Amino acid sequence: MSQRDSFASKFGVLVAMAGSAIGLGNLWRFPYLVGTNGGAAFIIIYLAIVFLLALPIMYSEFLIGRRAQSNVFGAFKKLAPGSHWGVIGVLSILCCVLVLSFYSVVGGWTLDYLVKSLAFKFTSESAQLDGLFEQTITSSVRPLIFMFLFVALSGTILLSGVKEGIEKYSKVLMPLLFVMVVIIAVRSVMLPGAMAGLEFLFKPDFSKVTSTTFLDALGQAFLSLSVGFGIIFTYASYVKREVNVVSMSQQTAITDTVFAIIAGVAIMPAVFSFGISPGQGPGLVFVTLPYIFSQIPLGGILAILFFFVLFIAAITSAISLLEVIVAYIVEEFHIRRKNGIFWAVGIVLFLGIFCSLSQGLLAEVKLFGNNIFDLFDKFSSNILMPLGALLIVLYVGWGMKRADFTDEITSGGKHGFSKWFLNYVYWSIKYLAPLVIGVIMIRSLL
Ligand code: PHE
Repeated sequence: MSQRDSFASKFGVLVAMAGSAIGLGNLWRFPYLVGTNGGAAFIIIYLAIVFLLALPIMYSEFLIGRRAQSNVFGAFKKLAPGSHWGVIGVLSILCCVLVLSFYSVVGGWTLDYLVKSLAFKFTSESAQLDGLFEQTITSSVRPLIFMFLFVALSGTILLSGVKEGIEKYSKVLMPLLFVMVVIIAVRSVMLPGAMAGLEFLFKPDFSKVTSTTFLDALGQAFLSLSVGFGIIFTYASYVKREVNVVSMSQQTAITDTVFAIIAGVAIMPAVFSFGISPGQGPGLVFVTLPYIFSQIPLGGILAILFFFVLFIAAITSAISLLEVIVAYIVEEFHIRRKNGIFWAVGIVLFLGIFCSLSQGLLAEVKLFGNNIFDLFDKFSSNILMPLGALLIVLYVGWGMKRADFTDEITSGGKHGFSKWFLNYVYWSIKYLAPLVIGVIMIRSLL
């Protein structure tokens, strides 16, 4: 068999991982969560959760992926032959298929809005912008075309493989993403009345911290770092053994959080400067922000920058989801990469059509009160993703030998860590993480 593709540099691994982690969640959810949960108080809690809990889960996913050097399904045939741990692979792949199906629909909207911004389409009438968004997502054909383009672009990047595809594109796109979001942030804080937005984000207010705050921070940390999807697993399988699992994961988490904070500074001061009440989700990025852009000098340019940011954030996450599926198809069905991508893209597009139409034509098709789009979203983020993360930590904590764990996390003794640190990480993986993930799952099911 030919040698497996791999990342060429540590920086390449970092930007690819950060590319997956930095997505719509950083732009349209984190700033809102921070603002409504006590500003800096939330940021402190979020960071504590990331370091104490989310990172140990990330190390787990990273180290078994790298040890296996295989796709997430095939991995367990190597690591634990004859066991049932392969179910982790099944869950992860299914999760990525479902998430990518609706993520691509949103990716299509961002592409559509990027095109609209290039045509300076945004007016100063907020009602019209509401209508524009409504029309964008509920029509039948147009969103399908943009979704198709979005998925086809993702597939095209993957065609060149890991080193020449994922790594090369991430190395260009990720720094560009940072530069653009910083430009928007600078413009945003210069607006009159921007202070109120900064206060919303950063003024610590511990009275707003409740038990929900912790659960929100937990959910956001998992989603934002892309743990539990088999993504880190798959990317790690292309990482060389000398790379330090711990510092690479920490750098990814820090990059992701820094980006989320800058995104907050880009968005909230502008929102407050116009006296609009801050929101989250599609309404924030597709209605509120275009309105603001239409109001400020040079706003048309900012709109282009912003939708470019949104688009890059979305596509670098999409390729990570797609790679999980592609690696599985290529390695388990022994077909050429090109054909594997063709199949993966085909499956995602097929399901994506239903997700897209569920905003309009098929809006009345409902299961458990949810349309197809929401159903895919809820099933994957409330059940498949936490279950995948749970099984991964159970495998590392209970299914793997402690000696193998230590061997892999230290890269065979190359990287030294204090005994205290390794004990904490292991304890967290073995007991704390399963417990907390269990609680989150129960809560989201109720
Ligand atoms: N990490 C992405 C975000 O913060 C979400 C995501 C998770 C995207 C998993 C793809 C896969 O938006």
